[in-house]
Amino acid sequence: MIKSQIESLRRELEQHNYNYYVLSSPTISDFEFDAKLKELQALEAQYPEFFDPNSPTQRVGSDIAGGFEQVAHVYSMLSLGNTYSMDEVQDFYERVRKGLNEDFELVCELKYDGTSISLTYENGLLIRAVTRGDGEKGDDVTANVKTIRSIPLRLHGDYPASFEIRGEILMPWSVFDELNREREAQEEQLFANPRNAASGTLKLQNSATVASRKLDAYFYYLLGEKLPAELHSENLKAAHSWGFKISEATKVCKTLDEVSGFINYWDVERKNLPVATDGIVLKVNSLNQQKNLGYTAKSPRWAISYKFQAEKAVTRLNSVSYQVGRTGAVTPVANLDPVQLSGTTVKRASLHNADIIEALDLHIGDMVFVEKGGEIIPKITAVDKEARLLIGDKVRFIKNCPECGATLVRFEGEAAHYCPNENACPPQIKGKMEHFVSRKAMNIDGLGSETINLLYQNGLLHNIADIYNLKIPDLVLLERLGTKSAYNIRDGAEKSKEVPFERVVFGLGIRFVGETIAKKLAYAFKNIEALEQATFEELIAVDEIGGRIAQSVVAYFTDEENRNTISQLKAFGLQMSLSEEKMQAHGSALDGLSIVISGTFSQHSRDEYKTMIERNGGKNVGSVSAKTSFILAGENMGPEKLKKAEKLGVKLMDESTFLSMLNL
Ligand code: IVH
Repeated sequence: MIKSQIESLRRELEQHNYNYYVLSSPTISDFEFDAKLKELQALEAQYPEFFDPNSPTQRVGSDIAGGFEQVAHVYSMLSLGNTYSMDEVQDFYERVRKGLNEDFELVCELKYDGTSISLTYENGLLIRAVTRGDGEKGDDVTANVKTIRSIPLRLHGDYPASFEIRGEILMPWSVFDELNREREAQEEQLFANPRNAASGTLKLQNSATVASRKLDAYFYYLLGEKLPAELHSENLKAAHSWGFKISEATKVCKTLDEVSGFINYWDVERKNLPVATDGIVLKVNSLNQQKNLGYTAKSPRWAISYKFQAEKAVTRLNSVSYQVGRTGAVTPVANLDPVQLSGTTVKRASLHNADIIEALDLHIGDMVFVEKGGEIIPKITAVDKEARLLIGDKVRFIKNCPECGATLVRFEGEAAHYCPNENACPPQIKGKMEHFVSRKAMNIDGLGSETINLLYQNGLLHNIADIYNLKIPDLVLLERLGTKSAYNIRDGAEKSKEVPFERVVFGLGIRFVGETIAKKLAYAFKNIEALEQATFEELIAVDEIGGRIAQSVVAYFTDEENRNTISQLKAFGLQMSLSEEKMQAHGSALDGLSIVISGTFSQHSRDEYKTMIERNGGKNVGSVSAKTSFILAGENMGPEKLKKAEKLGVKLMDESTFLSMLNL
């Protein structure tokens, strides 16, 4: 009874997912969808015996412990030969014609610019998703891929019992733009293009974050013993009928004229697509003919890609300016004569770092080539040295901070220059404050970057502790700040006094101490006094804290100004120690044990198990080794891990035994 109710809800939600993400024509509202999903989640939680790794509820993700398992590809993932002109396409066409000596068709497809993926389906269920890796073996990213709504977890129709399908995982432009806007606001490093953003996202350890990134996927290649048709184009149609997203821009062509028509059309039209493309792929349609043509060492002889030209422009370099970010990193920016490129006016281009400037041999007044390629910020790709009539001053990276004058430093192995004057360099001071008030730190409403700037300019804010000293009468005196905003800031600051210790540690903005490391430090040292006095050795003894972080923490607390700020924050009543409840949650049942988590669980999420291990003195590690104490094993444990565990004699423990070990 319950089982059939759960199953019918699953089917219904799968259909709605498909309607929405593959067909782009939803039949119910988001609200109704969420209500049904919640209903299913509740039933699954109540009846864990009906757990299914392919249920629509599994698309929301969790925290994956440790790295990814490496899996060998059954069929290697080859790349394609590239061509850049119609002449080269014609050469390919002639090679195929001579090779086959019979009529043939070519399928023209778009070349999607994302990250490639190979999916394995057995009996209609998604079993595994593996990245390209080195072409022979890749990372098992199944948990992350399951969060992509347009990828079917369960197929419909008449599919082969076992097959692989390959395609491209993409981050749509709109998602990419929004993600970068958010990252900019948090002063995090921006993704250069949607391809990097998609592959970076796919490699995240937390599939819940992957789910929030709204990736999409198109599929273009089927592999298996028993495929439905002899023609590639027919197989794609079949795959579409099983639930896969197949591009509508797919055309069977017989002549080179048709091919060139397809290329010319999409070279323009692709700009209206929601995802990035960087060319066209041509494939011989008949699988039999594909087999006859075969492969070279690196790529098939039956397929080729044609790359669209990156749009280029030539313009003059007028000057180079340098921007200082929150962390003190200095970015060189080229100021150019305005020029039109891909429909926008370009006035500035990123120069990345000193090495790139040197390699380009840039001089002021040079005519430079700017390209957009897949990147959002145009870059200078070359100098037109022939056009140099008079040679201007050579561009030399500055030695002093343009904001505060301090001598810049360059850390070993890093390309960037930094201003080391953390506590007296205006953009760094303001940046520290912006970080401190940000959502994941103290979450103080009403203090955006503009307001911080205003308060800083007016001498009301010098450091983060001053935020708690702001007085309503001073605030309302400022132009551009109304009474309501003033109260908002004051209330936000008051409320932030409840923010737990681990977020306060994060908010301090210690270099290299992100959210996770801040949490580790808070749990390991339990209060600010202990953290302040921690030695380098004590710090590196903490799991995941390496020398670089330890050094940075020690340096932070050695600085008298920082210590002063902290004692002020303490006096204002911020949380400077771990809450009782969190201290209590710490046990020692797993002291010194090294534990691998593998498979899927029904009673708690992986994330929760990971926290339980850490809170009880254990260490959660990614891969099985002779040092592994045991594996916390769920359903569908990875076959590689299982093999390795057997070989090394590492024991498996199921979740209920594990919970009873912790008296839970
Ligand atoms: S077919 C053996 N078709 O381009 C043929 N690849 O340089 C396998 N790509 O690794 C690839 N769109 O990541 C094929 N319509 C398409 C494609 C496509 C994008 C990517 C794919 C592949 C790379 C080859």
